[in-house]
Amino acid sequence: MRVRRKPWTAGELAANPKIVRDPEQWKGRWHGYFKNENPIQLEIGCGKGQFIAAAADAYPQTNFIALERNPAILAAAARKGLQASENAHLAYINSDVKNLPAYFAPGDIQALYIQFCDPWPNKKKWAKRRLTHARFLELYRQLAIDVIFFKTDDRKLFEFSLEQFSEQARWLMKNISLDLYADTNAGQPAGDARFMTEYEEKFVSLGTPIYRLEAYGKALGGLSDERAKCQDQKPCPASVVSSPEKQNPESGKLKQF
Ligand SMILES: C[S@@+](CC[C@H](N)C(=O)[O-])C[C@H]1O[C@@H](n2cnc3c(N)ncnc32)[C@H](O)[C@@H]1O
Repeated sequence: MRVRRKPWTAGELAANPKIVRDPEQWKGRWHGYFKNENPIQLEIGCGKGQFIAAAADAYPQTNFIALERNPAILAAAARKGLQASENAHLAYINSDVKNLPAYFAPGDIQALYIQFCDPWPNKKKWAKRRLTHARFLELYRQLAIDVIFFKTDDRKLFEFSLEQFSEQARWLMKNISLDLYADTNAGQPAGDARFMTEYEEKFVSLGTPIYRLEAYGKALGGLSDERAKCQDQKPCPASVVSSPEKQNPESGKLKQF
Protein backbone atom coordinates (compact mmCIF):
# COMPACT_ATOMS: atom_id res chain seq x y z
CA MET A 1 0.00 0.00 0.00
CA ARG A 2 1.57 3.28 -1.10
CA VAL A 3 0.94 6.47 0.84
CA ARG A 4 3.10 9.51 0.26
CA ARG A 5 5.07 10.65 3.29
CA LYS A 6 3.23 13.68 4.57
CA PRO A 7 4.91 16.26 6.78
CA TRP A 8 1.82 16.61 8.98
CA THR A 9 1.60 12.88 9.82
CA ALA A 10 3.41 13.23 13.16
CA GLY A 11 1.17 16.11 14.22
CA GLU A 12 -1.93 14.22 13.19
CA LEU A 13 -0.84 11.11 15.07
CA ALA A 14 -0.29 13.19 18.18
CA ALA A 15 -3.64 14.96 17.89
CA ASN A 16 -5.98 12.04 17.18
CA PRO A 17 -7.42 10.83 20.51
CA LYS A 18 -8.23 7.40 19.08
CA ILE A 19 -4.52 6.61 18.74
CA VAL A 20 -3.04 4.89 21.76
CA ARG A 21 0.37 6.37 22.35
CA ASP A 22 1.35 4.13 25.26
CA PRO A 23 -0.10 0.69 24.45
CA GLU A 24 2.35 -1.03 26.86
CA GLN A 25 0.55 0.70 29.69
CA TRP A 26 -2.71 -1.12 28.91
CA LYS A 27 -1.29 -4.64 28.70
CA GLY A 28 -3.60 -6.94 30.65
CA ARG A 29 -6.11 -4.18 31.35
CA TRP A 30 -7.55 -3.01 28.05
CA HIS A 31 -11.03 -3.06 29.53
CA GLY A 32 -9.80 -0.14 31.60
CA TYR A 33 -8.83 1.68 28.42
CA PHE A 34 -12.24 1.13 26.85
CA LYS A 35 -14.06 1.57 30.17
CA ASN A 36 -16.27 -1.44 29.52
CA GLU A 37 -16.12 -5.25 29.66
CA ASN A 38 -16.77 -5.86 25.95
CA PRO A 39 -14.73 -8.52 24.16
CA ILE A 40 -11.80 -7.17 22.17
CA GLN A 41 -10.93 -7.86 18.53
CA LEU A 42 -7.68 -6.83 16.85
CA GLU A 43 -6.88 -6.20 13.19
CA ILE A 44 -3.21 -6.27 12.23
CA GLY A 45 -1.92 -4.44 9.15
CA CYS A 46 -5.22 -2.56 9.03
CA GLY A 47 -4.16 -0.34 6.13
CA LYS A 48 -6.45 2.65 5.71
CA GLY A 49 -8.92 1.20 8.18
CA GLN A 50 -12.17 0.89 6.26
CA PHE A 51 -12.99 -2.52 7.75
CA ILE A 52 -12.41 -1.70 11.40
CA ALA A 53 -14.27 1.61 11.35
CA ALA A 54 -17.31 0.00 9.73
CA ALA A 55 -17.27 -3.00 12.08
CA ALA A 56 -16.92 -0.81 15.17
CA ASP A 57 -19.74 1.40 13.99
CA ALA A 58 -22.06 -1.56 13.54
CA TYR A 59 -21.03 -3.48 16.71
CA PRO A 60 -20.82 -1.19 19.72
CA GLN A 61 -20.79 -4.23 22.04
CA THR A 62 -17.29 -5.12 20.83
CA ASN A 63 -14.06 -3.19 21.28
CA PHE A 64 -11.88 -2.97 18.18
CA ILE A 65 -8.17 -2.25 17.98
CA ALA A 66 -6.32 -1.66 14.70
CA LEU A 67 -2.57 -1.98 14.43
CA GLU A 68 -0.53 -0.68 11.49
CA ARG A 69 3.18 0.00 11.27
CA ASN A 70 3.16 2.72 8.61
CA PRO A 71 2.48 6.03 10.40
CA ALA A 72 0.92 7.83 7.42
CA ILE A 73 -1.39 4.89 6.72
CA LEU A 74 -2.30 4.55 10.40
CA ALA A 75 -3.07 8.28 10.50
CA ALA A 76 -5.45 7.82 7.55
CA ALA A 77 -7.12 4.85 9.30
CA ALA A 78 -7.51 6.72 12.58
CA ARG A 79 -9.07 9.65 10.72
CA LYS A 80 -11.85 7.26 9.70
CA GLY A 81 -12.14 6.30 13.36
CA LEU A 82 -12.97 9.92 14.21
CA GLN A 83 -15.94 9.71 11.87
CA ALA A 84 -17.33 6.54 13.47
CA SER A 85 -20.41 6.82 15.65
CA GLU A 86 -20.15 7.90 19.28
CA ASN A 87 -21.02 4.37 20.40
CA ALA A 88 -18.15 2.75 18.51
CA HIS A 89 -15.24 1.51 20.63
CA LEU A 90 -12.14 1.94 18.52
CA ALA A 91 -8.45 2.34 19.18
CA TYR A 92 -5.43 2.53 16.89
CA ILE A 93 -1.83 1.56 17.47
CA ASN A 94 1.07 2.64 15.26
CA SER A 95 3.44 -0.30 15.58
CA ASP A 96 4.71 -3.56 14.18
CA VAL A 97 3.06 -6.95 14.76
CA LYS A 98 6.27 -8.23 16.33
CA ASN A 99 5.56 -5.92 19.30
CA LEU A 100 2.19 -7.48 20.17
CA PRO A 101 3.50 -9.26 23.30
CA ALA A 102 4.56 -5.89 24.71
CA TYR A 103 1.00 -4.59 24.39
CA PHE A 104 -1.23 -7.58 25.08
CA ALA A 105 -1.34 -10.23 27.78
CA PRO A 106 -2.76 -13.71 27.11
CA GLY A 107 -6.55 -13.42 27.00
CA ASP A 108 -6.66 -9.68 26.19
CA ILE A 109 -7.68 -10.32 22.58
CA GLN A 110 -10.38 -12.79 21.56
CA ALA A 111 -10.29 -12.49 17.77
CA LEU A 112 -7.59 -11.48 15.32
CA TYR A 113 -8.07 -10.31 11.73
CA ILE A 114 -5.29 -10.74 9.17
CA GLN A 115 -6.63 -9.36 5.91
CA PHE A 116 -4.77 -9.04 2.62
CA CYS A 117 -1.39 -8.95 4.30
CA ASP A 118 1.65 -8.51 2.06
CA PRO A 119 2.23 -11.82 0.23
CA TRP A 120 6.04 -11.52 0.04
CA PRO A 121 6.10 -13.64 -3.14
CA ASN A 122 9.72 -14.78 -2.97
CA LYS A 123 9.06 -17.63 -0.56
CA LYS A 124 12.68 -18.60 -0.01
CA LYS A 125 13.82 -15.11 0.78
CA TRP A 126 10.83 -13.50 2.44
CA ALA A 127 8.53 -16.19 3.87
CA LYS A 128 9.45 -15.19 7.41
CA ARG A 129 7.88 -11.79 6.87
CA ARG A 130 4.44 -13.21 6.07
CA LEU A 131 2.05 -12.57 8.93
CA THR A 132 0.97 -16.22 8.79
CA HIS A 133 4.51 -17.57 9.06
CA ALA A 134 4.99 -20.05 11.94
CA ARG A 135 6.93 -17.47 13.95
CA PHE A 136 3.92 -15.14 13.94
CA LEU A 137 1.45 -17.98 14.58
CA GLU A 138 3.48 -18.84 17.66
CA LEU A 139 3.20 -15.26 18.82
CA TYR A 140 -0.61 -15.32 18.34
CA ARG A 141 -0.69 -18.63 20.23
CA GLN A 142 1.07 -17.06 23.17
CA LEU A 143 -1.63 -14.39 23.29
CA ALA A 144 -4.27 -17.15 23.64
CA ILE A 145 -6.36 -15.73 20.82
CA ASP A 146 -9.56 -17.74 20.33
CA VAL A 147 -9.84 -17.32 16.59
CA ILE A 148 -7.98 -15.87 13.63
CA PHE A 149 -9.94 -14.67 10.59
CA PHE A 150 -7.65 -14.69 7.56
CA LYS A 151 -8.41 -13.43 4.06
CA THR A 152 -6.23 -12.96 1.00
CA ASP A 153 -6.42 -12.64 -2.76
CA ASP A 154 -3.10 -14.50 -3.13
CA ARG A 155 -3.41 -18.22 -3.74
CA LYS A 156 0.23 -19.00 -2.96
CA LEU A 157 0.05 -17.11 0.32
CA PHE A 158 -3.17 -18.95 1.16
CA GLU A 159 -1.60 -22.35 0.48
CA PHE A 160 1.42 -21.37 2.53
CA SER A 161 -0.85 -20.24 5.37
CA LEU A 162 -2.82 -23.50 5.31
CA GLU A 163 0.48 -25.35 5.71
CA GLN A 164 1.65 -23.13 8.52
CA PHE A 165 -1.60 -23.47 10.49
CA SER A 166 -1.60 -27.25 9.90
CA GLU A 167 1.95 -27.65 11.10
CA GLN A 168 1.14 -26.13 14.48
CA ALA A 169 -1.13 -28.64 16.22
CA ARG A 170 -2.72 -25.78 18.11
CA TRP A 171 -5.04 -24.58 15.33
CA LEU A 172 -8.30 -26.04 14.07
CA MET A 173 -9.23 -24.64 10.67
CA LYS A 174 -12.85 -24.17 9.70
CA ASN A 175 -14.90 -22.52 6.95
CA ILE A 176 -12.13 -22.66 4.39
CA SER A 177 -13.16 -20.97 1.16
CA LEU A 178 -11.29 -20.73 -2.13
CA ASP A 179 -13.73 -18.18 -3.52
CA LEU A 180 -15.52 -16.45 -0.70
CA TYR A 181 -17.98 -14.42 -2.71
CA ALA A 182 -19.01 -17.34 -4.91
CA ASP A 183 -19.15 -19.84 -2.06
CA THR A 184 -22.48 -20.00 -0.29
CA ASN A 185 -21.10 -22.47 2.26
CA ALA A 186 -18.41 -20.09 3.46
CA GLY A 187 -18.60 -18.30 6.79
CA GLN A 188 -20.00 -15.23 5.04
CA PRO A 189 -22.82 -15.40 2.47
CA ALA A 190 -21.93 -14.92 -1.20
CA GLY A 191 -22.15 -11.34 -2.32
CA ASP A 192 -22.15 -9.98 1.20
CA ALA A 193 -20.14 -6.82 0.84
CA ARG A 194 -20.29 -5.75 4.50
CA PHE A 195 -17.05 -4.60 6.03
CA MET A 196 -14.69 -5.14 3.15
CA THR A 197 -11.17 -3.84 3.51
CA GLU A 198 -9.87 -1.41 0.88
CA TYR A 199 -7.82 -4.16 -0.78
CA GLU A 200 -10.72 -6.58 -0.70
CA GLU A 201 -13.00 -4.07 -2.42
CA LYS A 202 -10.42 -3.59 -5.16
CA PHE A 203 -9.85 -7.32 -5.75
CA VAL A 204 -13.55 -8.16 -5.67
CA SER A 205 -14.24 -5.44 -8.25
CA LEU A 206 -11.60 -7.06 -10.50
CA GLY A 207 -13.26 -10.47 -10.11
CA THR A 208 -10.28 -11.94 -8.20
CA PRO A 209 -11.31 -14.86 -5.94
CA ILE A 210 -10.92 -14.20 -2.24
CA TYR A 211 -9.47 -16.99 -0.08
CA ARG A 212 -10.55 -17.20 3.52
CA LEU A 213 -10.15 -19.37 6.58
CA GLU A 214 -10.93 -19.34 10.28
CA ALA A 215 -8.34 -20.85 12.65
CA TYR A 216 -9.52 -21.68 16.17
CA GLY A 217 -7.38 -22.29 19.22
CA LYS A 218 -7.71 -26.06 19.58
CA ALA A 219 -7.67 -26.77 23.30
CA LEU A 220 -11.12 -27.72 24.62
CA GLY A 221 -12.64 -28.12 21.18
CA GLY A 222 -11.87 -24.70 19.86
CA LEU A 223 -11.32 -22.72 23.04
CA SER A 224 -7.95 -21.11 23.53
CA ASP A 225 -5.32 -22.58 25.83
CA GLU A 226 -5.94 -19.75 28.25
CA ARG A 227 -9.68 -20.44 28.35
CA ALA A 228 -8.93 -24.13 28.73
CA LYS A 229 -6.62 -23.48 31.67
CA CYS A 230 -9.22 -21.49 33.54
CA GLN A 231 -11.94 -24.14 33.34
CA ASP A 232 -11.08 -25.27 36.88
CA GLN A 233 -10.96 -21.77 38.30
CA LYS A 234 -14.23 -20.32 39.45
CA PRO A 235 -14.77 -17.68 38.39
CA CYS A 236 -12.60 -17.49 35.29
CA PRO A 237 -10.83 -14.16 34.89
CA ALA A 238 -13.15 -11.80 32.99
CA SER A 239 -10.59 -11.21 30.27
CA VAL A 240 -10.59 -14.91 29.52
CA VAL A 241 -14.27 -15.81 29.60
CA SER A 242 -15.46 -12.84 27.69
CA SER A 243 -16.10 -13.83 24.17
CA PRO A 244 -17.95 -16.60 22.39
CA GLU A 245 -21.01 -16.92 24.55
CA LYS A 246 -21.39 -13.16 24.90
CA GLN A 247 -20.75 -12.59 21.25
CA ASN A 248 -23.03 -15.09 19.67
CA PRO A 249 -25.08 -16.93 22.26
CA GLU A 250 -27.02 -18.95 19.68
CA SER A 251 -24.07 -20.76 18.19
CA GLY A 252 -21.53 -20.41 20.98
CA LYS A 253 -19.03 -19.32 18.32
CA LEU A 254 -17.12 -16.09 18.28
CA LYS A 255 -18.72 -13.75 15.82
CA GLN A 256 -16.82 -12.38 12.87
CA PHE A 257 -17.62 -8.92 11.56
C1 LIG B 1 -1.40 -5.02 1.55
S1 LIG B 1 -1.82 -3.90 2.80
C2 LIG B 1 -3.49 -4.39 3.25
C3 LIG B 1 -4.19 -3.38 4.10
C4 LIG B 1 -5.59 -3.77 4.58
N1 LIG B 1 -5.54 -4.91 5.47
C5 LIG B 1 -6.51 -4.02 3.44
O1 LIG B 1 -6.89 -5.19 3.25
O2 LIG B 1 -6.90 -3.07 2.75
C6 LIG B 1 -0.85 -4.53 4.18
C7 LIG B 1 -0.72 -3.55 5.30
O3 LIG B 1 -0.10 -4.21 6.39
C8 LIG B 1 0.89 -3.36 6.96
N2 LIG B 1 1.90 -4.24 7.57
C9 LIG B 1 2.69 -5.12 6.93
N3 LIG B 1 3.49 -5.77 7.80
C10 LIG B 1 3.19 -5.28 9.03
C11 LIG B 1 3.68 -5.54 10.33
N4 LIG B 1 4.66 -6.45 10.54
N5 LIG B 1 3.16 -4.86 11.36
C12 LIG B 1 2.18 -3.95 11.16
N6 LIG B 1 1.66 -3.65 9.94
C13 LIG B 1 2.16 -4.31 8.89
C14 LIG B 1 1.42 -2.54 5.80
O4 LIG B 1 2.00 -1.32 6.23
C15 LIG B 1 0.14 -2.33 4.98
O5 LIG B 1 -0.55 -1.15 5.35
